[in-house]
Amino acid sequence: MDKEFKRTDYCGNFGVKDVGKEVVLNGWVHRRRDHGGLIFIDLRDRTGIIQLVFDPVNSKDAFEIAQELKNEWVIGVRGQVVRRPAGSENPKISTGEIEVLVDRIKVFSKSKVLPFNVNEEEKIDEYIRLKYRFLDLRRPRLQKNIELRHRITQAVRRYLTDSGFWEVETPMLTRSTPEGARDYLVPSRVHRGKFYALPQSPQLFKQMLMIAGIDRYFQIARCFRDEDLRADRQPEFTQIDIEASFIDEEDIFNIVEGLMYSIFREALDIELSLPFPRMSYQEAYDKYGTDKPDLRYDTVLYDVSSVANLIPFPPFQGREVIALRIPKGQDITRKVIDELTESAKALGAKGLAWLSLQEEPRGPFSKLLTDGIIDQMKRLTDATDGDLLLFIADEPRIARETIGRFRLEVNKRFFQPNTQYAFVWVVDFPLFSFNKEENRIEAEHHPFTSPKAEDIGLLEIDPLKVRANAYDLVLNGVELGSGSIRNSDPEMQMKIFSILGLDEATSYKKFGFLLDALSYGAPPHGGIALGLDRIVAIMAGEESIREVLAFPKTQSAFCPLTEAPSDVEDRQLDELGILVKKEED
Ligand code: AMO
Ligand code: AMP
Repeated sequence: MDKEFKRTDYCGNFGVKDVGKEVVLNGWVHRRRDHGGLIFIDLRDRTGIIQLVFDPVNSKDAFEIAQELKNEWVIGVRGQVVRRPAGSENPKISTGEIEVLVDRIKVFSKSKVLPFNVNEEEKIDEYIRLKYRFLDLRRPRLQKNIELRHRITQAVRRYLTDSGFWEVETPMLTRSTPEGARDYLVPSRVHRGKFYALPQSPQLFKQMLMIAGIDRYFQIARCFRDEDLRADRQPEFTQIDIEASFIDEEDIFNIVEGLMYSIFREALDIELSLPFPRMSYQEAYDKYGTDKPDLRYDTVLYDVSSVANLIPFPPFQGREVIALRIPKGQDITRKVIDELTESAKALGAKGLAWLSLQEEPRGPFSKLLTDGIIDQMKRLTDATDGDLLLFIADEPRIARETIGRFRLEVNKRFFQPNTQYAFVWVVDFPLFSFNKEENRIEAEHHPFTSPKAEDIGLLEIDPLKVRANAYDLVLNGVELGSGSIRNSDPEMQMKIFSILGLDEATSYKKFGFLLDALSYGAPPHGGIALGLDRIVAIMAGEESIREVLAFPKTQSAFCPLTEAPSDVEDRQLDELGILVKKEED
């Protein structure tokens, strides 16, 4: 580094107060403009942009070099902060009232022609963005996201440390933990034919830490899951993982509410109102058709099956019929109905029926209605004249879940959110659910979750009715986190394994170390894991968590930058004792 060009400050930190200062700045050429005898360069670093002026009268040498500069070259300049001439200020940037008149310049490095512009927020194919992520990350929007992520992570560390939690790392090379996805496996060279699994979460280790007396643990933990990817799922992602001993659900709610409060205050200067509302799983499901309700909007679902089944309209016969109400005042044309029908179908509905409550009701089954039925329908849906009702009929659960997804479209289309951030705790989850395809009982959360004390009697008789000491934190319809109070009694843990279809031998084979540990004095304990990527994405206003990860993977779990996963050398496979089957045509 040339001493003469060692920077005195970052680009974004200057204002009128600095006029007259001699400065040295380093950064990237964001944009160049030639203006009749003067050259203007926007110089960029991670703090922002400052305008440089090259005037041949001031320095002929610097001016000549400036003529050669191209976008994204890396330069150092020496010069003086001056006020911009009246009328040429730029209120869009923080340094818009001043500029730097350059005396000397050094080119640190040049750039090839860019695959896309760094200085514009244009839409670029995501594959190209990820292939050149080092350029993509130069863009101010992503720089902001990365900084926000840093601030959030630091706020988490500060708050949890102040609350008595210790940060403990747990292994990456480990055994499978059942969080419901496929494992990423790592072959062992030393133990030929055996495999480590990358952790889907630190679940079992954090329980061991409680048994070890660590009392309060947290970790900013990387987790790995081989599952179908979506906007809010990556094959590797980060959890704020928390576990504590001698606590109950209320303690976890308090800790996490305090944590979210600190994060929002420190990173966005927003004061959240506490405590967060709570809603049972059943209520969430009944009113919103999902266990992660978006409570920014008031719209709810109405079960109108009892009345709809009386209407001789074939789609409604013998089905569950769930309705949504759009209050009067919206401009609902035939075209709007057609678009709504298309979007309902795209979400899995077999069709969308509607009823416009005009003086003369309109809709596909309006001719089949009696006054009595209309009145009952209005009563069930809190509707008044002029409202529009939308209906989806299907198998039980499917109707509700489908219209639950459709509700989100309707909200976006017709309503303004009531608030920017709607948190809710969803509680009283069932302990088990039934997997129809595989015809077996599964853990709704994971197998280490404890049943509610008052439901223990049902474990043997009707396990699907047993509620769990489990909870989810939901923000704006996104599951931010999930947790539970665990089984600290080895017998209860065994019983749950057996209901899940694991006999004693299999239980010991898979989770012997846990059962063993639980039998040496386990404190009551529980915890939660919050998806850090999802928290940052929502706080950054991004739709996809890929926008808040420095180096994300594509939807097909590929990294275009490093081209991972890749072939390996035969020698490496030999050492591992692995023979790769040829893809069969
Ligand atoms: P769970 O599996 O619900 O619970 O995960 C906790 C939170 O992690 C986030 N998350 C993801 N984020 C991005 N990409 C993914 N593929 C992904 N999968 C999960 C979500 C989710 O709410 N061990 C338990 C927690 C516990 O019981 O304490 C667990 O991992 O925000
Ligand atoms: P079809 O007989 O498919 O032309 O449908 C007649 C009307 O009933 C149309 O308005 C459809 O959108 C509606 N419809 C069909 N199936 C369903 C369903 N499962 N739920 C709600 N409405 C439906």
